[in-house]
Amino acid sequence: MKIRVALLLCLTLLSCFAAGCDKRVNDSEQVSPEEKIVIKFSHVVSENTPKGLAAQRFATLVKDRTTGRVEVQVFPNSTLYSDGEEIEALKSGTVQMIAPTTSKLSRLSPQWQIFDLPFAFNDGNEVHRAMDGPTGEKLLSSLSASNIKGLAFWDNGFKQMTNGKRPLIHPEDFGGLIFRVMINSQVLKRQFEQLGAYPVETQFNDLYHALETNLADGQENTLSNICSKKLYRVQPYLTISNHGYMGYIVMTNEKFWSSLPDDVRLTLESTLHEVTEWERQISADKDRESMEEVVSYGKVQIHHLTVAERNKWIEALQPLYSEFWELTWE
Ligand code: LMR
Repeated sequence: MKIRVALLLCLTLLSCFAAGCDKRVNDSEQVSPEEKIVIKFSHVVSENTPKGLAAQRFATLVKDRTTGRVEVQVFPNSTLYSDGEEIEALKSGTVQMIAPTTSKLSRLSPQWQIFDLPFAFNDGNEVHRAMDGPTGEKLLSSLSASNIKGLAFWDNGFKQMTNGKRPLIHPEDFGGLIFRVMINSQVLKRQFEQLGAYPVETQFNDLYHALETNLADGQENTLSNICSKKLYRVQPYLTISNHGYMGYIVMTNEKFWSSLPDDVRLTLESTLHEVTEWERQISADKDRESMEEVVSYGKVQIHHLTVAERNKWIEALQPLYSEFWELTWE
């Protein structure tokens, strides 16, 4: 008996010694605190949106692939920072990843507003060609002047118009209405002014309240944002206009990124690449599902712009193109 106890003791001591030599073992609970890398990923939308789902998937895959060495903590719904604050939070290093809409980067560089130009893209393929080609590359590299590294472009989808007053079919229907616009984009403000409406910048987490209390009559957004925030409950008119695109730029603090060990950075990069492909598919699915949700709610009057109506909108908004040119290149 004594011999058996002594043997057991020896074995226990031996395994402790082995674990001590290699501090990191294949159990996330046992990664030593000084080895652990925490990435706070803050965003402003619901978990059940393309961005929310992709951020969560990224976190799960990274945890598995680094066996717990890297922990991505996702903070949805502006719980950590609102969209007026998150870029500063990233620059100062209090969060390590965010994924704002391209429009919200316009203060960093006005060229980002190319994605805000109405009717600039006919479909998702055209958007992806711009994002994944030289235009996207140039825009991403412009971020390093702000100590930001752009990592990937994620989709949300095409924006539609909603409002609480009347159907929006002709450009004149916008006259005198107040529209919420995303923060920082001059082009979006000008879009509504050009239609005779009044733009009011509103953060995403205040949007439902602004519409409910008539601080704004209407807004433009993707179907997944309209549904996940239940905006259709206070916006009985929806126009399927597909007039503009809403996409995201996943980004990190450049200094933080270059401080990461090479193997970790490579794992994060390849995982993000994979999640980006997945996210683009999910956003198309969410767009379809969200439309079904609005239809089944049964209280929203939905109008699909005809080709002739669309052409009238295009004509009315044409001046924005020369304004954008002046704004960005002169
Ligand atoms: C909005 O403010 O409407 C969007 O940018 C929110 C988002 O991140 O999708």
